[in-house]
Amino acid sequence: MEVKTSLLDNMIGVGDMVLLEPLSEDSFIDNLRKRFDHNEIYTYIGSVVISINPYRSLPIFTPDKVEEYRNRNFYELSPHIYALADEAYSSLRDQDKDQCILITGESGAGKTEASKLVMSYVAAVCGKGQEVNKVKEQLLQSNPVLEAFGNAKTVRNDNSSRFGKYMDIEFDFKGDPLGGVISNYLLEKSRVVKQPRGERNFHIFYQLLSGASDDTIKKLKLERDVSKYNYLSLDSATVNGLDDAANFRTLRNAMQIVGFMEDEMQSVLELVAAVLKLGNIEFKPESRCNGIDESRIKDKNDLKEMCELLGVEQSVLERAFSFRTVEAKMEKVSTTLNVAQAYYARDALAKNLYSRLFSWLVTRINESIKAQAKTRHKVMGVLDIYGFEIFEDNSFEQFIINYCNEKLQQIFIELTLREEQEEYVREGIEWTNIEYFNNAIICDLIENNQNGILAMLDEECLRPGTVTDETFLDKLNTICAEHQHFESRLSKNSKFLTDHSLPHNCFRIQHYAGKVLYRVEGFVDKNNDLLYRDLSQAMYKANHSLIKQLFPEGNPAKVNLKRPPTAGFQFKHSVGTLMRNLQTKNPNYIRCIKPNDKKASHIFTDSLVGHQVRYLGLMENVRVRRAGYAFRQPYEPCLERYKMLCKRTWPHWRGPAREGVEVLMTDLQVNPEEFSYGRSKIFIRNPRTLFSLEERRKQCLEDLATLIQKIYRGWKCRTRFLLLKQSQITVAAWYRRYAQQKKYKRIKSATTVVQSYTRGWQARKLLRELKHQKRCKEAATTIAAYWHGTQARRELRRLKEEARRRHAVAVIWAYWQGLQVRREYRKFFRANAGKKIYDFIIQRIIQKYLLGLRSSTPSMSPIDGSWPSRPHLFLDQTHTELRRIFHLWRCKKYRSQFTEERRAVYEEKLEASELFKDKKSLYASSVSQPFKGDYLEITKNPKYQKLNNVMEEKVLLADVVSKINRANGKGTARIFLLTKKNVVLADQKTGQVKASVPLPDVSSVSVSTQSDGFFALKLKEGTASAVKGDFLLSSEHLIEIITKLHRVGTTAAEMERLNIDISDEFLVQFKQDKVCVKFIQGAPKNGNSVSCKRKNNRLLEVSVPTTAA
Ligand SMILES: Nc1ncnc2c1ncn2[C@@H]1O[C@H](COP(=O)(O)OP(=O)(O)OP(=O)(O)O)[C@@H](O)[C@H]1O
Ligand SMILES: [Mg+2]
Repeated sequence: MEVKTSLLDNMIGVGDMVLLEPLSEDSFIDNLRKRFDHNEIYTYIGSVVISINPYRSLPIFTPDKVEEYRNRNFYELSPHIYALADEAYSSLRDQDKDQCILITGESGAGKTEASKLVMSYVAAVCGKGQEVNKVKEQLLQSNPVLEAFGNAKTVRNDNSSRFGKYMDIEFDFKGDPLGGVISNYLLEKSRVVKQPRGERNFHIFYQLLSGASDDTIKKLKLERDVSKYNYLSLDSATVNGLDDAANFRTLRNAMQIVGFMEDEMQSVLELVAAVLKLGNIEFKPESRCNGIDESRIKDKNDLKEMCELLGVEQSVLERAFSFRTVEAKMEKVSTTLNVAQAYYARDALAKNLYSRLFSWLVTRINESIKAQAKTRHKVMGVLDIYGFEIFEDNSFEQFIINYCNEKLQQIFIELTLREEQEEYVREGIEWTNIEYFNNAIICDLIENNQNGILAMLDEECLRPGTVTDETFLDKLNTICAEHQHFESRLSKNSKFLTDHSLPHNCFRIQHYAGKVLYRVEGFVDKNNDLLYRDLSQAMYKANHSLIKQLFPEGNPAKVNLKRPPTAGFQFKHSVGTLMRNLQTKNPNYIRCIKPNDKKASHIFTDSLVGHQVRYLGLMENVRVRRAGYAFRQPYEPCLERYKMLCKRTWPHWRGPAREGVEVLMTDLQVNPEEFSYGRSKIFIRNPRTLFSLEERRKQCLEDLATLIQKIYRGWKCRTRFLLLKQSQITVAAWYRRYAQQKKYKRIKSATTVVQSYTRGWQARKLLRELKHQKRCKEAATTIAAYWHGTQARRELRRLKEEARRRHAVAVIWAYWQGLQVRREYRKFFRANAGKKIYDFIIQRIIQKYLLGLRSSTPSMSPIDGSWPSRPHLFLDQTHTELRRIFHLWRCKKYRSQFTEERRAVYEEKLEASELFKDKKSLYASSVSQPFKGDYLEITKNPKYQKLNNVMEEKVLLADVVSKINRANGKGTARIFLLTKKNVVLADQKTGQVKASVPLPDVSSVSVSTQSDGFFALKLKEGTASAVKGDFLLSSEHLIEIITKLHRVGTTAAEMERLNIDISDEFLVQFKQDKVCVKFIQGAPKNGNSVSCKRKNNRLLEVSVPTTAA
């Protein structure tokens, strides 16, 4: 069981100042000190948390502590900032109320640390998940980035926020963080160029120089030595407990987590480096002849390096440091800057560069941490603004910072003290009025639109003519002199009060937190916040995307002659917006107190704490809480919440809510002093009363839960039982139906069977009867049919007999008649009929024969010897004649297709046939050989070129023949050429002409009857050719040679026809001798070759093998 704890357990002093007895400022401070000494740095005033800076790390911010405070009631555990954070977060998550956490206190009181604790607590207790963790991480890591650029060491705080920060953390309906929006307020940019003694410039400068890698330092053209830079103060360059190098690594890591790109980080560092370089630019005076002092840059190296870093043209920037161009309407006036003005311009540029860079960083972080989802957000705002500060020398910045704190105090007063009191009055609750100081009057002194200090400063800045800080102070002296919170030497003097602590150029304001003396020097300039247009234009021209973005007004296309709003105006405006924003949210206060001025732990300076307690109005706060009621709630929700504690109000109260609450309170026997009835709300004096109510409610809720559970379980069981019952009935009904159906089907089918048997039996009986009847009918029919058949056959036989007799009579009659007729006509018939029939038959046979012949005529080939057989002997002659006619006609048809050449070939062939057919055995073998004529291709063959040249006429035949030697009968190869006029014999190898015989000299040719190729060319006696004698030659183409020779003889007109002598014995004239050439048939001894042998002087015997035929 959970052990119930309370704020009151083990209390050191009192945990809630409301319980302090007796209440006085001393006891208040004593209580704080007592607790502080026991490391209890948190104390409540009701729901407000007072936090005292311990200046050391305490073990009270561990994850275990987070778990301890998670989802616990505010007053349940000892005071802690986590309890406040949990209360705010639970209220945001469960009651859908936007929250704001206002952290106030002077510089170094621990506001920034408190804000980080709140954020880390919320991050620890809200939802988890990859996406949510990323959002949380980004939100948390935005702090190191902003601290590096916006925090600096001051005399009061080593990590003093030099800007105001308000961060809205956005949550979804489940309470998971979605993102956030950061607003920043007026960075103390004067720190960039000048720091008070004992203070430093912004952390980033020192972090960069000590933490950046050598490579980065080189790239940024920097040196690590802080003393090299005019803008960095030397006396406190290192701060105890601050590791700049490590912080630089943390910064880079945080920038990466937040989502800065590598090149963005580089650009940012370039700008920081450029500011340092800018501080090193120095000017020297140079007098011109017209007596005007001009400034010149002493050493241009820093300027050059800075220009290189920013991508600015050196000459442009140099000019911007030397001249100032003022544009008024259409005119441009350029004036030279003296050394002081040049320094002013340089510092203004440095301040602007840095402050704009800072604003850009905030915008860039906002881009990263922006909530992605478009759903409705719940918001928790955390305000960590620079604390109230009183320096030795307070300027415009302190004025602005303190004004902001003044506004915050006012909202605190408004929301806690005044609201509280007003509500009591409104609700008609008895109330002893508490006097408290309302600082609205101071706010009015500063921000009043007509005669507020800011309005007058603006008026002075915008006024034509000479405007100085002194004229501004004069104006204040005239307008605010009567104001009770304003003091100046002049206003005092006017009241005849001499105050030597008030210098001439100062004014003093009595803030809620104390009197602050402001030096007016620089007020006008700082409020104007003027950056010469030449400089902004030079920056705009930079070849550096970030710089360009930071100086949009430098764009010549967008020249705006209107003055930009003053710094004071802007600040007033943004503080106004912030206040309105805060008023819409449920406020939670953390009031930070600084225990000592030495930044030391364990030291508690009563006077310092007392001062803070006073100006924070903490005493009034306690008094109000004690006089009033800790808790209030409208009647309806109160009744709704606690109605289960009383039987009369549970579960429904029919009457008005207030009466219900009254009944409830009476029934619960709550001490009547512990509460009061307001008009619309009940006020509970003590938180403990509320706790006890809550406790009882919780118990009651548990009982109710049991009851509900019981009823629900009963209902569930009953429902289940009813369902089961219903199911059982349904199942039974279905089953019965099914069984009945089955039974019915069985009976039905049995009935059908019985029925079918009966019907079958009846049908069969009927069938038998019908069949019997049918058989009887058929029997009768059959008998009748037989009877009728017998009758019919008998009749038919009779009729047939009758018909036969009639036919016999008719035939006999016909024969008789025929005999009669034949006898009568015999003589006429014999004379003509026989011949006619004969002619007819013959005609018919011839017709049939011709038609048959037409359909069976053989092919058109002349060598086709087939012919249909003769059908009748008497047609023999006709048949032969028709065959001959057909053949002739076929040949004629065949011939008509011939070309001229082919005709000549066939004519030759025909002539050969006429000459040799049946006369020489060789002929048969030549028929199939085509007559080529030129076997040697004499015109084409280069071998016979010479011979060809000799030939004047066309060669009709060229062949190789054997010239038979009469001495031994052996043959010598000779070329045989035949032209139209000559026969030429030439040597086969050389082509030399051996003999040329004109054709008219040839008298005859002799050949054998056998199949040899021998032939004798006989020459006419007495001719020139005949001198050498006849030629005995042998050729394979004998038939062709002789035919061609014969043809030439036939066609040539002047020649006699050549005689061809075919016999197996002939004489050949060899020179003087005549030799007989005799052909005999020899056995085929030496193959098939023809052999020629000389038998004697007068006989050459040629043996022709029989097979050669
Ligand atoms: N809860 C704490 N535990 C330990 N040290 C703390 C705590 N709160 C503050 N400090 C110490 O006090 C220093 C100053 O605190 P912090 O910067 O929060 O002051 P601040 O109120 O924000 O001041 P400023 O108005 O100048 O920004 C811190 O640097 C830290 O050393
Ligand atoms: Mg701070």
